[in-house]
Amino acid sequence: MRNPNFKVQSSKLKAQTDIGRRFTEIFGGEPAIIVRAPGRVNLIGEHTDYNDGYVLPVAIDRSVVVAAAPRDDRQVVIHALDFGESVMFSLDDIEHDLVRTWSNYQRGVAYFLEERGIKLPGLNVVVIGDVPIGSGLSSSAAVEVSMAYTWQVLAGFKLSRVELALLCQRAENEFVGMNCGIMDQFVSALGQRDHALLIDCRSLHYQPVPLPPEAAVVVADTMKRRGLVDSEYNTRRQECGEGVRILQRYLPQVQALRDVSVAQFAEYKGQWPENVRQRCRHIVYENERVLKSVAALRAGDLDTFGRLMNESHANLRDDYEVSCAELDIMAEAAWRVNGVYGSRMTGAGFGGCTVSLVAEEAIEDFRGQVTAAYEEATGIVPQIYVCRAEDGVGQVSPLRLSLRGA
Ligand code: GLA
Repeated sequence: MRNPNFKVQSSKLKAQTDIGRRFTEIFGGEPAIIVRAPGRVNLIGEHTDYNDGYVLPVAIDRSVVVAAAPRDDRQVVIHALDFGESVMFSLDDIEHDLVRTWSNYQRGVAYFLEERGIKLPGLNVVVIGDVPIGSGLSSSAAVEVSMAYTWQVLAGFKLSRVELALLCQRAENEFVGMNCGIMDQFVSALGQRDHALLIDCRSLHYQPVPLPPEAAVVVADTMKRRGLVDSEYNTRRQECGEGVRILQRYLPQVQALRDVSVAQFAEYKGQWPENVRQRCRHIVYENERVLKSVAALRAGDLDTFGRLMNESHANLRDDYEVSCAELDIMAEAAWRVNGVYGSRMTGAGFGGCTVSLVAEEAIEDFRGQVTAAYEEATGIVPQIYVCRAEDGVGQVSPLRLSLRGA
């Protein structure tokens, strides 16, 4: 397959394969460990995680990679190859970095591990990634999870992968200050190769769902970096909370929108103010769509799966109001390509990427037609990534490393 990013790819690949050598150049000595944690793309179940609902993400073959070795003091020194910058902080006094804000993810992880009573060793760290930053593919979760796992191996404490994911979410919520749900950290920690993960965000039970070999998960990056996302995200959370509070007057057993069925929504929809009703409608139907889409996937019914993806996009656009012109143009361009089962915005919204399920033989048409239509409408050249579903975080051998141009 022709690769338009070949130049970028090859140089990044070199930087990546050489992460061990870069570590030695920067710190002297060999890294004790190399860890990779994937980014993610969510197939369906958007904004449902913080409503105790269902999500169906995939851990992708774009990752953050960390090379690290313990120090015999309590200093953490991190060199980020992507930024060409270093930070140093003490585990005895973990503060926010207002300048090198990228390091707050690692700081937050260290903070909450220490808060659990785990005495961490200082570390020398080199980090690099090929998850595009700010495009809604969860580079931040990958940074957190890679760091937590690195410390777990080097310090030898026992936390399950679910606990690790929860700790990383907490770092993001309470240290970084982004009030996200559990989906991104969870799938970065627990994803499975060739599978999507159905996650029940209330019980945190999960099931791997095999992906169809005859179709590909294709991500199209609008290149519009997500603006507004933090404030609008919090507003949506509040509106969902308001929806629950109002419904509790009639149905006191409802703890979250996850508990509301489509029939109950229809019965009580007159009780909510318009904006709250719209938000609730999306969440109630989206939860149902996730379960239906898993059934469709298991039955090999990709047409139904794709239709549910398209409905999800329409609801996110019209009811939840987290799409934007670029995402709509991209999804609509995909809908017109023969061999595309479905396409929708993915992640928090307001920019970032769409995800599409595309028949293998239609991938090149998708690439050509979606790129042309999007460029013509916006003047922007999108990035198209054909993704493979990968395992969650783990240790890797330096010889098996390869990253692509971000
Ligand atoms: C962001 C958050 C997730 C989830 C999605 C929307 O990616 O980090 O927890 O809420 O938005 O589905």
